[in-house]
Amino acid sequence: MKHLLDIKDLNQTRIEQLFQCADNIKSQPKAERLKHLIGRQVVCLFYENSTRTLLSFQLAASGLGASVFNLPVDHSSVQKGESFHDTIKTIAAMAPDAVIMRHPEDYAHRNIADLLTDNIHLINAGDGQNQHPTQALLDLYTIRRHKPDFKDLKVTIIGDIKHSRVANSLIDGLNILQTTDISLFGPDNLIPEQYSDKKAPTINAALDQADVVVMLRIQKERFEKNEFLNVNQWHQNYGLNSEKLKLAQKDAIVMHPGPMNRGIEISAAVADGPQSVILEQVSNGVLIRQAVMATLLS
Ligand code: NCD
Repeated sequence: MKHLLDIKDLNQTRIEQLFQCADNIKSQPKAERLKHLIGRQVVCLFYENSTRTLLSFQLAASGLGASVFNLPVDHSSVQKGESFHDTIKTIAAMAPDAVIMRHPEDYAHRNIADLLTDNIHLINAGDGQNQHPTQALLDLYTIRRHKPDFKDLKVTIIGDIKHSRVANSLIDGLNILQTTDISLFGPDNLIPEQYSDKKAPTINAALDQADVVVMLRIQKERFEKNEFLNVNQWHQNYGLNSEKLKLAQKDAIVMHPGPMNRGIEISAAVADGPQSVILEQVSNGVLIRQAVMATLLS
């Protein structure tokens, strides 16, 4: 595999190999990890804001011994009018080993993958509302550590599904790992038609007996002018609090890709509570990105 652009580029075996690779890296001492990508160069190109994805790719790459270079798009020649394609061709001409890119347009990566020469690997760190494959991998890796039998799980995803690349990638990843019981809940206008068969009638039905509960941020920045959004009633109607969480399995885990809006999609008590694995997701993000880079670049 040359690039990782979409979780659907992977099959079950490949995903399990990545999990295995992450487990192996985790068991290695720091000095050993540094040998994986020594002498390699990785460029991060983020056209959208990011805290955890950007930093975790940077820490992951440098933890494997690679040198990491961040192109600050706001201070680059993009501001002088350089086209997206010219920026990519310029980076390709410098021949880094990998480009990690986040872009606000769906499928932006597909459109530029051919501009990269044979030895440059492209990793999607999020494209518009389409895909976020490494987020799905870290989510699945986190689920696996608590609940390894994917076939037997009820996974509930609540919030702004429509604008969420996290939801798309996670649903695709769960399909690959053969989880059939996936339940979605949110405002009717934020559940895309393609997922109507997974839509729960009420939030209580969505949460009932769930093993995994994934809460999503309202992606305000992706709303079109004519799309309706009422944030005032959000917590009451679509938010998770301790009382509602009691409907799920006693040992259910609560996930959130971050950044969180406390008091909107999730209460602080749940976010910081014993069932929350939100910070574990962040830690696993570094490991799984190391597994992806080690696999693609080796
Ligand atoms: C998500 C994203 O950017 O898609 N964040 C992340 O990568 N951890 C979700 C979000 O922004 O709400």
